[in-house]
Amino acid sequence: MRFISEISVVASLLFAVACHDPQPGADLVPLPAEMTFTGGYFQTDSVSFARGVADGRVVCELDTSSPNLSREGYGLEVRSDGIRITAVDSAGLFYARQTLLQLLTAKGIPCVKITDNPRFGYRGIHLDVSRHFFAKEEVFKILDEMARYKLNVFHLHLTDNGGWRIQIDRYPLLTRFGAFRAEADWLKWWEFGDRRYVPEGTPGAYGGYYTKDDIRQIVAYAAARYIEVIPEIEFPAHSDEVFIGYPELCCSGKPYTSGEFCVGNPATFEFMDGVLTEVMELFPSRRIHIGGDEARKALEAGVNSLADTVKITLGPNAEKFLAEHGRVMVGWDEILRNNLRPTSVTISYRGQRGAIEAANRGYDAVMSPGEIIYFDWYQANPHTQPRAMSGFSPIKKMYSFEPVPDTPERAAANESLVKGEYVAPDSVEHIRPNAASHIIGVQGCTWAEFIGTPEHLEYMMFPRLLAIAELGWTPRERRLWADFRRRVNSQIPRLLARGVNAFTLSNDVEITARIVREGRKARVTLDTEKYPAEVRYTLDGSDPTAGSDIYSGPFVVEAGTTVKAALFVGGKPAGSIAGLYVDACHNVENYYAY
Ligand code: ACM
Repeated sequence: MRFISEISVVASLLFAVACHDPQPGADLVPLPAEMTFTGGYFQTDSVSFARGVADGRVVCELDTSSPNLSREGYGLEVRSDGIRITAVDSAGLFYARQTLLQLLTAKGIPCVKITDNPRFGYRGIHLDVSRHFFAKEEVFKILDEMARYKLNVFHLHLTDNGGWRIQIDRYPLLTRFGAFRAEADWLKWWEFGDRRYVPEGTPGAYGGYYTKDDIRQIVAYAAARYIEVIPEIEFPAHSDEVFIGYPELCCSGKPYTSGEFCVGNPATFEFMDGVLTEVMELFPSRRIHIGGDEARKALEAGVNSLADTVKITLGPNAEKFLAEHGRVMVGWDEILRNNLRPTSVTISYRGQRGAIEAANRGYDAVMSPGEIIYFDWYQANPHTQPRAMSGFSPIKKMYSFEPVPDTPERAAANESLVKGEYVAPDSVEHIRPNAASHIIGVQGCTWAEFIGTPEHLEYMMFPRLLAIAELGWTPRERRLWADFRRRVNSQIPRLLARGVNAFTLSNDVEITARIVREGRKARVTLDTEKYPAEVRYTLDGSDPTAGSDIYSGPFVVEAGTTVKAALFVGGKPAGSIAGLYVDACHNVENYYAY
């Protein structure tokens, strides 16, 4: 599996910086916009810090006229004799507190001056609770971690063909007949099985749903952490589970015949309005996601009816209905088929194209390209990992994504991440500079076909969620892989100590070679996710051993050289041995050994 990291040269130049012993506490994620350590500590410990501001040494100031701060921004000065926090809104105070909690060490909080504002107002994580159901307690745990890393939108994918997951009083058969199935395993049930749902109460059935009270608890838990919960009710496709209880809503009128609503039937609109009414009662978010997912299938097959379905259900109906209730429609990028209201928001998942189109047409959009920032894709060598969706999105690839491709070069670099090869800047669309502000944020999505337990969910989300947090918060020019790598490695033991089952990152080595302009030579960089890392390499085709050269920075080789490298722990290769034949014909090569 290959991919190109466009930042690897910059990253390697910074290697020397990253190798220095960092300032204690300087492993903040996301990295603040401006931060200077000034020396010394504010003496405290987690117990007295948790007691808060009682002793007057921590001063919080709400100053609504602060010119350098946005609503979620904060100024923070930690001195040995006290802490001063400034913010224009309580959200900023909350984020200052998250920063302080991360900075806290055994010696106290290092003295520091920070001025911090998020890059985007929408910093999202999505969770599919349909294909597999996660109890509210697991949702609380995810929300805790999101808040810690300053993520502020939780997109809750409540309905899909895996099961209907929210109590709707007007349509009780949704959960009575559409929330449980006989088989938990997705492959056995959906891909190779009978796809049958079973009634609630069936002995041994797999599934579940959130009661209204559960939803209220989730919304309140999130709100206390400055997280907006955007509910998603999927229309007009991916709705097989609806028609078990309400077969009249699909065109054949029979269960198990379709996953798509029948737009010719007025009951479809009644249903939509009825469900959305109860959803709006539960979720205060202005933004309500009405799906649109993969409503393209029929289109691609040359059938127009589903395109019409999207237009009719999601355009004049859902969008209008939501607007009448003061809400805004959010949808997957299929909604761009419609002429949208100016307030509607597109989540771009089929690459970056949807968001680029939306922004250039004047609509707000969230970047969530599936090929780059989906948590259900493999994060390391598939031979070492549990079954996942078939793509490959290790943390460095996620981190290398640029959410605002406002130049041809930036758009091409994103496309290179998707394609794993060079993409010419003039071959892709980019966002026009005056449309860049329509990119309101970034979102990592967690589809749960292959994620059946809370432990597995955490394994797929962490630590990659930290990359999304930094894409969402940190200014573009402050984001450097080599520095993030150090910080994320430092965060992993903290995640584990909090009981989060994080992946501890790959043991493989990435070899990158770039041809040096003067001749048949290449500059070779060896990179790892682990930090610090003992990487050993050879240039003669032999496998590296405990006696091979240790990598200490980029080096130059003749074209025709075979570079082999491995990460060593305790005198032995910890992962697979990577190899790259440096070929003068190619100016960019990456290689993961599997
Ligand atoms: C999606 O990933 N199908 C929205």
